[in-house]
Amino acid sequence: MNSSNYINEHSIESKIMTFENLLLPWQELWSKEPLDFPDLVYPPEVEELVEKMIPLKLEELENFLRLEVLKIIPAWDEIQQATWLPPIYEKNFSSPPKQKKMSKKKFHEIEEILNFMFRENCVPNHLFDCAGGAGLFTQEFFQKTTNFNPRPIATLIDKNARLLEMSAHLSKERLTIIHDNFFNLSLESLSEAKKNVGPHFWLGLHACGGLTDFLIEQFPLENHLCSIGCCYHMLPTNWGKQHPININLPLTNEALTLAAKGTQFLDLTSLIHRFKVKSYRYPFELGLRKIYDYKGSVNLRSFPSRIYQGSYGEYLEAAMDRFPHVKKSNFAATMIEFREEPKVQQLITRLILLGLLRHFFSRPLEIYISYHRLLKLARRLNRPVRDLAEIFHRSLSPRNVLITSFFK
Ligand SMILES: C[S@@+](CC[C@H](N)C(=O)[O-])C[C@H]1O[C@@H](n2cnc3c(N)ncnc32)[C@H](O)[C@@H]1O
Repeated sequence: MNSSNYINEHSIESKIMTFENLLLPWQELWSKEPLDFPDLVYPPEVEELVEKMIPLKLEELENFLRLEVLKIIPAWDEIQQATWLPPIYEKNFSSPPKQKKMSKKKFHEIEEILNFMFRENCVPNHLFDCAGGAGLFTQEFFQKTTNFNPRPIATLIDKNARLLEMSAHLSKERLTIIHDNFFNLSLESLSEAKKNVGPHFWLGLHACGGLTDFLIEQFPLENHLCSIGCCYHMLPTNWGKQHPININLPLTNEALTLAAKGTQFLDLTSLIHRFKVKSYRYPFELGLRKIYDYKGSVNLRSFPSRIYQGSYGEYLEAAMDRFPHVKKSNFAATMIEFREEPKVQQLITRLILLGLLRHFFSRPLEIYISYHRLLKLARRLNRPVRDLAEIFHRSLSPRNVLITSFFK
């Protein structure tokens, strides 16, 4: 446990460079969707890996990924070391009490941020819960500070009125709800308007895409900040260019989506599930392209998992509802025949294996993006900042990277 690792601008830049050097040679693997490789021909190193993986059984595959990938991707050891972050969490995971109605992950996140706040003696008079959604954090914060005198207040900001309504039962004296688009707000004037004594606490707990950057750029200085990023695919496409240093990696939408998944090593159960999901999704996507010359982008990621638990036919039926223009009477039969061709089956296996390999790059991408944000913070504050930290173990969720700045 080390909660006081500080890092200066120069060290952050050199970390960013390390990631670039490690990742650049492999960019082809993660800067495209597997189906977007022309004729599905991958770079030679990747071809070699995929060929070795094809004959393996699932249980052998897991070990292969763990052991062999480390040897074949030369920089992998370094990537592993570079993605290590100081942990700040203390406890084993406990499940939330039923009445809390929140996921284990959310419960743990909130608890750890509150612990951190108390441990660092940074409990504020005023919390700004930015993109706070249903106000889950604010609610827990109020509970933890019930005995305070004076009792702290909070401002909850979100653009989603339906979520905000869920906080309507919280104390009217203590809570101000702002229903607005975050980007329209001047955080400086917002905090000025509240005459409470500072420092205030600005929280962005899974603030979507560019909101995290906005918060880091705009939170009024001489305040506390705590931020965990979210959904990179909601970052603007010029995000790299907006950054204080050049981003040399191609942060395409695919790479950002990959980073958003941030998967550490998959256990066998998740691996099997992912195989099943892909073995349904890929033939459908491939069929749309090959048989129907479909050129658009196919996004079926939002399918509920029960769809994947049925048969391929059921899956097709549900999937076709999303493509009314290709929904013809013989469509399903054609697609089933297509899927059953041995050549197509081989192709699907290769696609799935390639997808698995790509996931090895999600964690470094996640940390790479987070270090850019930390650099932004260090430059703004013009002093060393606390290093990125893991707020809970990555097996609970890979999105566990916390950026903090406590004003003392
Ligand atoms: C992943 S949720 C996190 C909610 C909450 N912080 C939590 O951890 O439970 C992201 C929230 O950001 C809000 N949001 C996204 N874009 C926004 C914007 N431009 N302005 C204000 N809120 C926004 C969404 O409505 C959503 O409630």
